[in-house]
Amino acid sequence: MNKNETLNLINKCVRDLNGYHLEPRNVPIKLNQNENPFDWPVAIKEEIAKFCIERPWNRYPAFIPAELKELLAKHVGLESSNVIAGNGSNEMLSVLMMSLVHEGSKVIICEPTFTVYRLLSTGKGAECISVNLTNDLEFNIPELIKTLATNPEALVILCTPNNPTGASLDESEIRSILDIHRGFILIDQAYIEFGGYDAIPLLKEYPNLIITRTFSKAFAGAGLRIGYLLGNSDVIAQINKIKLPYNINFLTEHIAGTLLKNYSLQQETIQTLIAERDSMFSFLKQMPFDKVYPSMANFICIRCSAKKELLSYLQENGILVRDVSSYPKLENCFRLSIGTPYENEQFKLIVKNFFGIN
Ligand SMILES: Cc1ncc(COP(=O)(O)O)c(C=O)c1O
Repeated sequence: MNKNETLNLINKCVRDLNGYHLEPRNVPIKLNQNENPFDWPVAIKEEIAKFCIERPWNRYPAFIPAELKELLAKHVGLESSNVIAGNGSNEMLSVLMMSLVHEGSKVIICEPTFTVYRLLSTGKGAECISVNLTNDLEFNIPELIKTLATNPEALVILCTPNNPTGASLDESEIRSILDIHRGFILIDQAYIEFGGYDAIPLLKEYPNLIITRTFSKAFAGAGLRIGYLLGNSDVIAQINKIKLPYNINFLTEHIAGTLLKNYSLQQETIQTLIAERDSMFSFLKQMPFDKVYPSMANFICIRCSAKKELLSYLQENGILVRDVSSYPKLENCFRLSIGTPYENEQFKLIVKNFFGIN
């Protein structure tokens, strides 16, 4: 068998994909991945390192990470039967796709949005239907409602606050979708700690609502890979069957529990990041950009006709932001993650230099 014959055995929907890709670059100021720039205190890391040394590595982790599920449930005001924990919310998205999507399924997304939704659903052979955001990069609710009418069982994925635009849905907008749609609705709230309507209270009313969250943003745990999925307990029991056994290793379980118990430490950094975002927004509005989009998250989307030159200039000066100009409707746009006050000041300085403003 030659190599091409072998490659042809790979699912066509997978062969047709453009994989998720991020160019690795080492720069002093990294404002390209919406991470929390404030790391956890060393004392907490040392306690975790001690646990890691003492815990036998030859034994499997708990079959059900019961303590972590309890802590997560308490954190969001639900029961542990409403929770699945995993390796980042990406794993939760994948588990969800495995449970809900098959060849011929329809998945409705509001683009531009997080690219993994399209990647996973088309990779599973589903048809991905896009309802574009408006020209102001807001959700287009009337258009979404029209699309639901012709696709009553489609899985709808709403990212709020939305990556990479920062737009957010309010309670009445979310209810207007939940009240009419019979299919599942996934609300990805990876950035909810920074602002926007928290959809968790709606879980009690709508069994077709699922919410995903992550430790990678506000929780300052991107390197750890921890995320979770919330839903009606009967729905969770079904989805749980397809999750791989032992998906959470003992260290992740322990770290996630420790971070939850110490969450109050991050609350201060979250408040700092929100204040920094708002001050950055005011600054950006004063600069000669084509458009700066309001954001409820820890990043801001900016349209700049000199995007290419500005991004090169930033990089020459050690600052990396995310070029999102290849997304639908985002021509000439880039996304700036909010960094530490020092990093943000450096960014402002370089931008002012670029535009020749004192
Ligand atoms: C909207 C959204 N959902 C999910 C994720 C993935 O998060 P995790 O690191 O938990 O897999 C990201 C990461 O950037 C994101 O922006």
